[in-house]
Amino acid sequence: MKTRIEGRQMISKVTLNESIVAYQRETLSATRVEHILRVADTARRLAADHGLDEERAYTAALLHDNARETPGHVLLAECRKRGISILPIDEVNPIPRLHGQLGAAIARERFAITDPEILDAISSHTLGRVGMTPLEMVVFLADYMEPGRNAHEGLAEVREAAPRDLALATRMAMDYTIRYLLDKRRSLHPQVVDARNWILTKALSPSQAPHH
Ligand SMILES: [Fe+2]
Ligand SMILES: [Fe+2]
Repeated sequence: MKTRIEGRQMISKVTLNESIVAYQRETLSATRVEHILRVADTARRLAADHGLDEERAYTAALLHDNARETPGHVLLAECRKRGISILPIDEVNPIPRLHGQLGAAIARERFAITDPEILDAISSHTLGRVGMTPLEMVVFLADYMEPGRNAHEGLAEVREAAPRDLALATRMAMDYTIRYLLDKRRSLHPQVVDARNWILTKALSPSQAPHH
């Protein structure tokens, strides 16, 4: 009996993942779908490295960029329609935060995802979040380090750290992103700054935290 139920759950997970990919092949570019599949594989591997649920990581990663090709003004309108909070910086630069927020809304509405950790992993995949869980870090890092990413300073370091320390690798990835944005004179979303500060004080072991 138990095996039959487990078998049925297995089949429904496969069906869910297949219908997610089918939806994305209709709504996103082929390049994006390939990225998403690489992120999902990377997330599954990282989850295994850290003893986390591989299927939840895979499904969350499959859903992370649902709304990545939605134009900024549509993201703003769709988020407003759903009562999703919009910060002043989101009005200027909607994509970093709102494509995750709308992506999570699509996961809920279209694929009936109710697992709050999966929904948080989708909405926080670009900026991180204060209090982000290991599963959220897995999706954040998988997006950052998937094998299709162009080599840049720091990528090798993040890839090396991620299988052994999620918080450390997440902080490194945030550091590189923040430095890149500063170098380009681009704006910084406050959510990534808050998330990085939280990791420094709460999520890193004492030997990794900076001395104040
Ligand atoms: Fe994204
Ligand atoms: Fe992505």
